[in-house]
Amino acid sequence: MSAAQQKQAAAEAALELVESGMTLGLGSGSTAELFVKALGEMLKSGELSDIQGVPTSKATADLALDVGVPLIPVDHVQRIDLTVDGADEVDGQFRLIKGGGACLLREKIIANASDLMAVIVDETKLVRELGAFPLPVEVDPFAFTITAKKVFDALRASGVKSPDVTLRRRGDGTEPLLTDGGNYILDCACERIPDPEDAAERLANIPGVVEHGLFIGLARLLIVGDDDGAKVMEV
Ligand code: 5RP
Repeated sequence: MSAAQQKQAAAEAALELVESGMTLGLGSGSTAELFVKALGEMLKSGELSDIQGVPTSKATADLALDVGVPLIPVDHVQRIDLTVDGADEVDGQFRLIKGGGACLLREKIIANASDLMAVIVDETKLVRELGAFPLPVEVDPFAFTITAKKVFDALRASGVKSPDVTLRRRGDGTEPLLTDGGNYILDCACERIPDPEDAAERLANIPGVVEHGLFIGLARLLIVGDDDGAKVMEV
């Protein structure tokens, strides 16, 4: 199966976790979008009802409304039953790198507020060690070059040999990309992150870092699309 078919299989398998009446965190990115579309189909056919979605990005909110998934304003949310989201990398302990789509802050807030976070990926996202995918770090635009140096130092101190920290730019390469919250993203090429917990703690302690893309201890279910369909794994 192609990566696209594996993503579709994982997204459809995640639907089996959904029950009518749930409040659902809706992730961002191409795999999460497949889940939102499939959810819309289930609502249309009447197989599910009374779902309230909490989107993690403007793009996901637009898509959800487009395909008929009702949304609840995030400030009215009391609890979230389940969040379904994609990832850029997943290791054997279900530690994730997220933020390839620049939505990591909202994704982490919603995942952390959820009773359960299920991650849906194709098998190319599974890694032995995190770090081949550049780690996104969301920073306040104010003094971002100072923050970038602190991010470099933190990653070095955490055992990353030669971190390469670059400001993410918009598609045309001219202006910095702005997240939905109006922040910048620093992409940190690490090759390998030998101690993700230590790196996460060091990054979180830097003034100017709004959030980093290491999701540790959040994902409890992993649904991987592979050539046989989708495998569900529990941490
Ligand atoms: C967005 C994310 C996405 O979940 C991650 O980038 C995976 O995206 P895709 O499903 O398109 O491969 O973290 O911020």
